[in-house]
Amino acid sequence: MKKMSLKEIVFALIESIDLVNYLLKNHHRRVAIIAYELGKMMALDNETLRRIVLASAFHDIGALYVKEREDLIRLDVENPHPHAIRGAILLKEFNYFEEISDIVLHHHRYWDDGRGRIFMSREVPIESFIIHLADRIEIIYDVTQNYFTQIGNITNQIVEREGKIFSPECVSAFKKLSKKERFWLDLETISFNQLLYQVFDEKEDILIDLEVIEHISQLFSSIVDSRSTYTASHSKAVGAVAYELCRLSGMNDVVCEKMKIAGLLHDLGKIAIPNEIVEKKSKLTDDEFQVMKSHAYYTNQILKRLDGLDDICKWASMHHEKRDGLGYPFHIENDDFTIEIDILALSDVFTALSENRPYRDGLPNEEIFELITEEFKEFINPDLLRVLTDNIEIFNNIREVTQLRVYSLYDQNLEKISRMTDQLNSIH
Ligand SMILES: [Fe+2]
Ligand SMILES: [Fe+2]
Ligand SMILES: [Fe+2]
Repeated sequence: MKKMSLKEIVFALIESIDLVNYLLKNHHRRVAIIAYELGKMMALDNETLRRIVLASAFHDIGALYVKEREDLIRLDVENPHPHAIRGAILLKEFNYFEEISDIVLHHHRYWDDGRGRIFMSREVPIESFIIHLADRIEIIYDVTQNYFTQIGNITNQIVEREGKIFSPECVSAFKKLSKKERFWLDLETISFNQLLYQVFDEKEDILIDLEVIEHISQLFSSIVDSRSTYTASHSKAVGAVAYELCRLSGMNDVVCEKMKIAGLLHDLGKIAIPNEIVEKKSKLTDDEFQVMKSHAYYTNQILKRLDGLDDICKWASMHHEKRDGLGYPFHIENDDFTIEIDILALSDVFTALSENRPYRDGLPNEEIFELITEEFKEFINPDLLRVLTDNIEIFNNIREVTQLRVYSLYDQNLEKISRMTDQLNSIH
């Protein structure tokens, strides 16, 4: 495996997710550039700039899959706190980025003449106010228009809200920044990677191994799965089932571990699919199904940028392929198939059929087997199907334990989110 650092891999993932994100395309990248420039204009030290870039890259992950994402494109968001809290919780659970959790928590906090600076007797990080301003500038900014025709309008809207919503210190930095053509042109040209090298020192980064990639994948699978309660545990369960199927089929430890990661990431491309299709309670129309099918293609788009993870990318993006060439989106045929692709595809179908969906309950084992045999028929390796049938108790346990764990965390988080929303709303 080629050596990539933790930050490189995470930024590559965030950048490609940002690119395929259907509603807020490039939002995280542009917010990171604006916030970084504001921080520099305010003469903040490198350590703070680093936190600003990192937190900007992640600030809306709590909203990637929830309804309020659509509200975020309005300038004055009515109740922005739940997605900020959800994002903060996700980041807190991911050890490596704990330091930015608080920044994300407060990234919609009003300055409120300085009263918003303190929350529960703690100072709200200056990084949060900077990201809040950067975020709103990015929302007003219209990519389809020349930047110079918009500067006046953007500045007016920001200045109108100075003191109440935005910190005067941040607004004054923006006024200076907005005069530079270079700043506006950077918005379309600077990549996450370039930003990364401006603020991070390679020496202090963590070099990754499979264990770290698994942690990262857990974080990203939570982002995908948190989209709806019906799929809250799907990727995690597929990862766990695929790992066990691999192990019981006699594969070595490295392959099993990679398979788990592929399971965690297989539906990542759903980020590119509109909410109304993913969350639709009834059967999809033919057109909607065509759109839905593209998620496997986008999984490939996102993962193929990660050097050295080719097999994980391949297994993850082939999970809807079939040996007769009738799968999607690549229509690969028998000769191009490997047992690993079968393992992930089988784990996905097995897990999906046993889960509740808005339009049906989870199916009993006998029915699952019938459907699986029907679907995979002569194509599936009979040994693989036998491993699943012979150990069905084990697989059901794994799936149930994963679901229970995710749902109890989900409930705890819901409670936390509603408690914290009240607290945040009581101040603003
Ligand atoms: Fe936000
Ligand atoms: Fe945002
Ligand atoms: Fe899928």
